[in-house]
Amino acid sequence: AVVTPPAAPMINFKAVAANSGNAIVVPEGYKAEAFVPWGTPLVKGAPAWKPDGSNTAADQALQMGDNHDGMHFFPMSEGNSNEGLLVMNHEYINPEYFYAAEAGQTDIYGTWTLDKVRKAQHAHGVSVVHVKKDAAGKWGVVADSAYNRRIHGNTAMAITGPAAGHSLMQTSADPFGSYAFGTLNNCGNGWTPWGTYLTCEENFNSYFSTTVAGATRTALMSRYGLATGNTPYQWHLLDNRFDWAKEPNESNRFGWIVEIDPFDPASTPKKRTALGRIKHENAAYVLTDDKRVVVYMGDDQADEFVYKFVSDGKFDPANPNANKNLLDHGKLYVAKFGDGTTKGDSMGTGEWILLDKAANPILAANASFPDQATVLINTRQAATVVDATKMDRPEWVTVHPSTREVYLTLTNNSGRNDATPLNDANPRANNVYGQIIRWREAGNNPAATTFEWDHFVLAGNPTANPLKSAGSANITADNTFNSPDGLAFDPEGRLWIQTDGANSNTGNYAGQGNNQMLVGDPKTKEIRRFLVGPDGCEVTGITWTPDMKTMFVNIQHPGEVGSHPRKPTIPAGVNQDLYLAQNPTAFSSWPNAAGGRPRSATVIVTKIDGGKIGS
Ligand code: FEO
Ligand code: CA
Ligand code: CA
Ligand code: CA
Repeated sequence: AVVTPPAAPMINFKAVAANSGNAIVVPEGYKAEAFVPWGTPLVKGAPAWKPDGSNTAADQALQMGDNHDGMHFFPMSEGNSNEGLLVMNHEYINPEYFYAAEAGQTDIYGTWTLDKVRKAQHAHGVSVVHVKKDAAGKWGVVADSAYNRRIHGNTAMAITGPAAGHSLMQTSADPFGSYAFGTLNNCGNGWTPWGTYLTCEENFNSYFSTTVAGATRTALMSRYGLATGNTPYQWHLLDNRFDWAKEPNESNRFGWIVEIDPFDPASTPKKRTALGRIKHENAAYVLTDDKRVVVYMGDDQADEFVYKFVSDGKFDPANPNANKNLLDHGKLYVAKFGDGTTKGDSMGTGEWILLDKAANPILAANASFPDQATVLINTRQAATVVDATKMDRPEWVTVHPSTREVYLTLTNNSGRNDATPLNDANPRANNVYGQIIRWREAGNNPAATTFEWDHFVLAGNPTANPLKSAGSANITADNTFNSPDGLAFDPEGRLWIQTDGANSNTGNYAGQGNNQMLVGDPKTKEIRRFLVGPDGCEVTGITWTPDMKTMFVNIQHPGEVGSHPRKPTIPAGVNQDLYLAQNPTAFSSWPNAAGGRPRSATVIVTKIDGGKIGS
């Protein structure tokens, strides 16, 4: 439901300063409390989280996963702001913090066992958390609720849509190409007006490699970046499914959008192949006037593309059964961003190119795409063949709740150079700060095939780099940030911007501090900082209760060291990650101020006076 925008200023809180510290900072008058960190017992029978990292794979399958990411609150009943299902993604794990320290270990993995592989797989995926406010107004997990559910890297799920059953989808465990096992690297999310959750599979390639000497990757494997050496996860060493020489089609069963019905705990998640196979960031829907479903999607890698799906069928709130498989039939488009009539003015026009084997003459004539299933399995190459516009890492998309204007983060692209020419939409070489682009579909019809676009912001740093990267006029020394990633409109039309970038607070990034969340006004373009995350984290995932009085935000990978200015002193000659594996409490202990290893967690933000967030 669209809420009438407030009569008061759209952004009405005092901005917080940038900083590097090990706590959440929110504006005066607000409070933030950590909730359901990694390992929290969730499903009935789940054991307690063990601070020393010694929980087993079986334990982890019943506990909250790791690296909380995209998330959505589904009220238990329409308008219910006291009870609902909080559904969230678990993108990946940090091996340096994930396992118990071992005496004499020589790398972060220690003695490598199948149970460790399974534990990591079980920490990926999705959690469905039945949450409820108590009489005192405090949120808690409803213990033993039948809704509490873990969907993880080994959960059986159906493959649906045009690529289901295709020979490229068949494996030894699934000779019909109709059932996949698990969902991985669940990054951003989406939801549908019929009450389902969409989880988006991003960097699935990083789980696959091979131990087979001399094995070579197919062109398809190379296009999606499957590894040839070791991976950060090492699953392929003990689980043949992740060895691409032994199971060449397994990776084709990842990189999809998965639809989950959180209100039916027995339901089978569905990989919706009609939406294409990319490194999916998130999925933002909007309805056309005649109720077709349009889903916008970004492929998060430098020089990749932006997509939209338009369903053939129409959403019918009176007929839930008719909505169930709307995402299996429709048209997939990829975006071409033109400079428009004037060069260098941060605006232009664009068109949507249909990725259809029969209807697009370029694909029809191309023998490397024998059928539509191949177009979908190799969406990236199909988009390259039709000459889509290479973008500066497309991350989250969101649609304004009343105007239907679409906003997209282009997080950064330091490699933008002569090989990938600049254009008005991606106007900067060595783009370390990123930008937010927005577009309006022709005739305000989300299914239109042309649009006009402009930039909402070019992020920059006027203090550190005044000549080179000041950014657009709405960037100041006070609100400077880099690498916009998470992006969502609240129901009143505020644009919430979450960052996942450099937190060194020096050089190009001086004065920007830790990763953070800011709020933008789409009309005035003003941007104000609302939250600063703890050391080493990324801020990602956001949702609200219908009354806008509770906001849930995810803090992912606190304690990821990188080039953080407060990182621990590592003894000379010692590998940093190995040091952390043996001393997991050395850097960040967030969210536990008293110490311990860092844990990804949700943060519940409320206004102390009980008012609406942002008001
Ligand atoms: Fe998982 Fe592109 O962030
Ligand atoms: Ca232009
Ligand atoms: Ca992201
Ligand atoms: Ca990112």
